[in-house]
Amino acid sequence: MNSAAGSLRDKRAIVTGASRGIGRDIALHFASAGADVAIAARNTEALLALQDEILALGRKCIVITADVTAEGAATKIIEQAESGLGGLDILVNNAGGNSFSVALQSMKFSGWQKTMALNLDSIVLLIQAALPALLQSGNASIINVSSVAGLRGAPLMSHYGAAKAALISLTQSLAIEVATQGVRVNALVPGWIETDLTDFLRAEDTVEQGLLSQVPMGRWGRSDEIAQGALFLASDASSFMTGQVLVLDGGQSARA
Ligand SMILES: NC(=O)c1ccc[n+]([C@@H]2O[C@H](COP(=O)([O-])OP(=O)(O)OC[C@H]3O[C@@H](n4cnc5c(N)ncnc54)[C@H](OP(=O)(O)O)[C@@H]3O)[C@@H](O)[C@H]2O)c1
Repeated sequence: MNSAAGSLRDKRAIVTGASRGIGRDIALHFASAGADVAIAARNTEALLALQDEILALGRKCIVITADVTAEGAATKIIEQAESGLGGLDILVNNAGGNSFSVALQSMKFSGWQKTMALNLDSIVLLIQAALPALLQSGNASIINVSSVAGLRGAPLMSHYGAAKAALISLTQSLAIEVATQGVRVNALVPGWIETDLTDFLRAEDTVEQGLLSQVPMGRWGRSDEIAQGALFLASDASSFMTGQVLVLDGGQSARA
C-alpha cells in the first residue's frame, strides 16, 4: 500500500479563482499536502492574504493578478506560474461563475458570450498554454471545475449549464488525447456550495428552502468538501483515474 498516495509533496500547482470560495480552499489544501502553489484571480489584496497563509505552511506561493478572460492572459498566467515554481504538475481551472438568470428566449447574446468566455474559452487557452509544462512533468493532473448545472437541464441558466457541460466533454476528449503521456484530466462537479457565488440564493428563505429540498443531504456543501475532491484528483490517490467526473453534491444528481 502506498500511504503517500494522497500527498502532493513538492508538486507545483496553479489554481485559478483562488482569491475566495472553492479555489481558495483548494489552494490551502494543496499547500497543506506539500505543494507549492501559484494563485490567480483579479483581487490582489485577497490573493496576498492567502499567500501569507500558504507561506506560513512552509510552501512557496506565487501571486498572479489576472483576469482570465483578458486577451493574452492565459499565456502570461502560465508563464508566471511556471517560472515562479520551476515547472508545473497540476492545473486547477476553477475561476468561473454565473452572474445572471434569464430564459434563453430573452437572453442577450453578449451575456451568453461573456459566460462562455469565463467558463469555457479561458480554460481552453489556459490548458493550451500549460500543456507543454504538464507533459514535461510526466505525472500531471488537470482538474476542471464544472457544475451540477452541466449534468442536465439548467432552466434560466442555459448559458452557464452549456458552458459547464462543454467543459465536461472537453475534459473527456483531452483525457483520451493525453492518456499515455503522463497527464490525467478530470472534472470536479460541485453541487450547491456556500460561497459568495451563491449568496443571492440565501437572501430569500423560500428560494433557499426550494434549493435545499433538491439536495438529499438537505444542506449546503462547503468549499473544504470540494477541496478534498480536488486533492484526491491532484494526487496519486487517483492515479488510474482520467476522463472522469467526480460529483460532490450531497446526492442532488442521484435524483431522477
Ligand atoms: N458555489 C457553488 O455552488 C458552485 C457550484 C457548482 C460549481 N461551482 C463552480 O466552482 C468554481 C468556484 O466557484 P465559487 O463558488 O468558489 O465562486 P466565487 O466564490 O464567486 O469565487 C470565484 C473565484 O473566481 C475568480 N474569478 C471570477 N472571475 C474571474 C476572472 N474573470 N478572472 C480571474 N478570476 C476570476 C474570483 O476572483 P476575483 O473576483 O478576485 O477575480 C474568485 O476567486 C466556479 O467555476 C463555479 O462555477 C460553484
